[in-house]
Amino acid sequence: MKFNKLSVLIFSLFVADYAFAIDPVYEGANGIRAKVFTNCLKCHSSELTGSKRNGAPADVNWDTYAAAKAKAGRAIQRAVYTKDMPPGSSGLPILTSEQQAALLAWNSAGLPQSSTPTGSYSYDTNVLTINVVNVGVFTYKATMTVVPDGKSPTGLSFVLQGAQEVSDSSDNAAFYTPVFEHLHLPKIELIRQGAVQSTVSADLLSVKGSSPLRFHLVYYK
Ligand code: HEC
Repeated sequence: MKFNKLSVLIFSLFVADYAFAIDPVYEGANGIRAKVFTNCLKCHSSELTGSKRNGAPADVNWDTYAAAKAKAGRAIQRAVYTKDMPPGSSGLPILTSEQQAALLAWNSAGLPQSSTPTGSYSYDTNVLTINVVNVGVFTYKATMTVVPDGKSPTGLSFVLQGAQEVSDSSDNAAFYTPVFEHLHLPKIELIRQGAVQSTVSADLLSVKGSSPLRFHLVYYK
């Protein structure tokens, strides 16, 4: 497949829809702590004491899950409803509508700390295992191996090694949209020597006509 303008456009739409969205979970690169509480932590952090807190009560902190969960209802009250946090005098902006919506979604989801991994990639074996990938009404578990690929925007592609139908479900399932040839992986754990190093989300585009099926790794973060 040529990485043509149309697929770039379609891909950008997907990125706008999914990859940059705020996940309704506390942890993670796209989670509530990183994407919503960012400015709040300038005053409400357990790392800050005395005047560095700018008057924020000592027991109201957003930098740990336990503390944030305990006061989440108040965060919503002040940052979504009355919109007087951060205080106007601080010059910091109030939350964007996307951040407000994410805070409400986090609350509706029961204030989860983290979400189930979509799968894992091992640096030791170069194998990507996707636990649950939804393709229309079908659900699969799939494995892929990485190969260098000069035609892929990141220089890497994944080749499908196997896929078996499963009846599992996941709050963080991968999904493949055949009409856009797009595979979205919300949360992949990167594993080296048996230990999780970090997690990323990734977007891949399948290469038309490839056999075995090959996906360009277009983006990961
Ligand atoms: C510049 C410092 C500063 C920033 C940034 C800030 N706050 Fe505050 N916060 C305060 C101060 C001062 C108080 C105590 C006075 C008050 O309640 O208005 C407070 C109190 C609170 C309280 C406890 C009072 C209550 O209503 O239960 C909550 C909740 C709160 N802030 C939420 C937030 C959230 C959420 C953010 C980010 C969207 C935020 N704050 C950002 C300074 C800050």
